[in-house]
Amino acid sequence: MRVEEKASSQDVLGARERYVPRGVSASDLVVTRAWGARIWDADGREYLDFAGGIACQNLGHGPAGVVRAVHEQVDRYLHQCFMVGTYEPYVEVCRRLDELWPGDAATKSILLNSGAEAVENAVKIARAATGRPGVVVFDRAFHGRTNLTMAMTSKLVYKQGFGPLAPSVHRAPAPYPYRGVSTEDALAGLDLLFEQDVDPGEVACMVLEPVQGEGGFIPMPAEFVQALKERCERHGILYVDDEVQAGCGRTGTVWAIERLEVEPDILVSGKTLGGGLPLAAVTGKASIMDAVHPGGLGGTFGGNPVACAAAAAVLDELAAPGFRERSEQIATLLRRRLDEIAARRAAVGEVRGLGAMLALELAERNPAAAKRVLGRARERGLVLLSCGLYGNVIRLLPPLSATDDELERGLSILDESLGDAGSA
Ligand SMILES: Cc1ncc(COP(=O)(O)O)c(C=O)c1O
Repeated sequence: MRVEEKASSQDVLGARERYVPRGVSASDLVVTRAWGARIWDADGREYLDFAGGIACQNLGHGPAGVVRAVHEQVDRYLHQCFMVGTYEPYVEVCRRLDELWPGDAATKSILLNSGAEAVENAVKIARAATGRPGVVVFDRAFHGRTNLTMAMTSKLVYKQGFGPLAPSVHRAPAPYPYRGVSTEDALAGLDLLFEQDVDPGEVACMVLEPVQGEGGFIPMPAEFVQALKERCERHGILYVDDEVQAGCGRTGTVWAIERLEVEPDILVSGKTLGGGLPLAAVTGKASIMDAVHPGGLGGTFGGNPVACAAAAAVLDELAAPGFRERSEQIATLLRRRLDEIAARRAAVGEVRGLGAMLALELAERNPAAAKRVLGRARERGLVLLSCGLYGNVIRLLPPLSATDDELERGLSILDESLGDAGSA
């Protein structure tokens, strides 16, 4: 069956069943249009979007400046391959990333297609710069689905049956106060790892999300990140800050680590960076980035000019006056309403997050209840996502361009859906 442009949701889902493998776990929402904080399905139904293509639409769908920049670039050229023909949009994104670097160092950047590819490149660069193989990652981390990054990622579903996994990846605990893991516990776990399993002198880098995303929207305490950085400095290990989900304005500041008062050695960004087009970056101290020999880094499409034009506009918006203020207003509104919902509904165990990267963890540690809430929210016109090792965390990623009215409406739907799902 050929899927026509005006196909119904049913038609598209039927064709998907036939042509797309089930391993790509997909929702049954068939989207035909999106604007701002709203999306429309193939049957003409409107939804509020609190998922943002998993944190890719911090500026909303179709932000005017990004769309304009893309149109202008489309009329110039679509592709060059940076290794064949140098073009300004690539260099311009790297310059803006340097301006926005959370610290004093002079930086350089390489541009890639996806967050996973960027994390892989960050590890390659750290290994080249230190001459060491080891990588330390943390409980509940998500860094991607490629061979190296699935070894770095910590949920069975992402690696079951796909081994052998990449070697030299070591996991340490990360704080999770709601489930009883304190900063002290986590640091003790890392120190034990260095004592009994891994020589820190063999470790190239530690990689951590400042707010764990897929792992359950768990903000890393500043004392933890500062203590990791101190250990990195002591042992000559590079600190890699994975901001693919928490970055690009989600938490109020451009990078979440700005709030933790630590200057990373390497920062990985993606998702919202391309404003909806595939783009990710590895930005790092210039001397570290230049440790790799010419030709050691690259890729055919990495830093595609159209995606770069979009990213330059995204970075302008993130740096514009008023962006942080609005993001903080949104964070306050969301937090107040979520706290109020949690106080009324026994099923909600904890409200947590950083800035406007907020979530509710349901007390019950299985995915069924969260799935029910997401299903009821969909029926009521709100698209939401869950996350967490046990799938019991409901995360909120509304565009930071949403109006107060849209946010209030979405939160009321979430509240009612918790009630519908028996979470009174
Ligand atoms: C923190 C983090 N790192 C890396 C990735 C991988 O990004 P991508 O899906 O673009 O490969 C993700 C994706 O969710 C992420 O949340």
